[in-house]
Amino acid sequence: MQVAAIAFDRFKPLKDDECESRIVAAKAALGRRAVILGHHYQRADVYKHADLTGDSLGLSRLATQTDAQYIVFCGVHFMAEVADILSTPEQIAILPDLSAGCSMADMANLAKVERAWRELGEVLNPDESITPITYINSAADLKAFCGEHGGIVCTSSNATKILEHSFARRPKVLFFPDQHLGRWSGHTLGIPVDQMLVWDFDEPMGGLTPEQIRHARVLLWKGHCSVHQMFQAQHILKFRNQYPDGKVISHPECNFEVCKLSDYVGSTDYILKTLVAAQPNTRWLVGTELNLVNRLAEQLKPEGKIVQFMAPTVCMCSTMARIDPQHLAWTLENLVAGKVVNQIKVPDREAQLARTALMRMLDIT
Ligand code: 13P
Ligand code: SF4
Repeated sequence: MQVAAIAFDRFKPLKDDECESRIVAAKAALGRRAVILGHHYQRADVYKHADLTGDSLGLSRLATQTDAQYIVFCGVHFMAEVADILSTPEQIAILPDLSAGCSMADMANLAKVERAWRELGEVLNPDESITPITYINSAADLKAFCGEHGGIVCTSSNATKILEHSFARRPKVLFFPDQHLGRWSGHTLGIPVDQMLVWDFDEPMGGLTPEQIRHARVLLWKGHCSVHQMFQAQHILKFRNQYPDGKVISHPECNFEVCKLSDYVGSTDYILKTLVAAQPNTRWLVGTELNLVNRLAEQLKPEGKIVQFMAPTVCMCSTMARIDPQHLAWTLENLVAGKVVNQIKVPDREAQLARTALMRMLDIT
């Protein structure tokens, strides 16, 4: 007999501490059948239940390594898609709240990327001269586009390496959806900023002339992260003025000025490891999402490390925060009852092409 799913309405009114004990009980009942993956930006009351945590690259690797039947992803939609694509057909990827998306990933879609490719085809032969690179923060069909056109996926921890790899094959890259990660990675590789032009997807030909397209080495999709855009150069200048010995570390989704003014730039995992390895009694200004910064501030306080958030306003990944204890308890209790809710399933053909682009990345890094 078909088991009916337990409705979320029954979990909505639960208090957080009630959810806490129910999550712990459901995890114990599921044992090794379920693994909870948590991104570093996940809110504390959910993050503490994660079996494995990491940045996007680390979590993609973990999705290929776990043998759990259920992969419960406490992150955002594209991360659960990657888990589905890289896991075996028998494994089931689950996103506890389907509305946990990524605003940056939503800034590119297949129709717009295909249009860009067609328009570039009016100036040169893109399949011979341009490598499409998609940041992992993108929908599965864009990863499939890259798989089909000799392209590749990158994450914030390997983007420079992926660019280098791509330039050894074709002279140009189209980098989407995050212009800032693309620009910073190109700069790290020594590409002059005037050879990295923004492709404005709302304009015909990306708002560029044929001459500009021929001259450019990197075409940067006009996308950004709504969280990281809040960090500004002035925040760093003020900090340096107040604390000349302080260090600054930022995520490469921050704008170019912020990255240039930072002492260190890297992925969430890089930020975490750098701060953990830092000397005691040091002061840090950190340009990345609030949940991670708060966790590090708390964790490193006993060593006398002072960890400060870069912006004066609250910058949280509000979409990831939609995965709350209520949704996690609901998801897990349904699994205990034999019912899968919120499965993320990428269609087969798309998954196959997206896997090609993801595996190209994993093979290199
Ligand atoms: P990381 O790959 O550094 O974890 O970044 C993912 C992300 O979405 C940052 O906004
Ligand atoms: Fe997307 Fe920005 Fe959230 Fe990262 S922090 S998941 S890029 S919206």
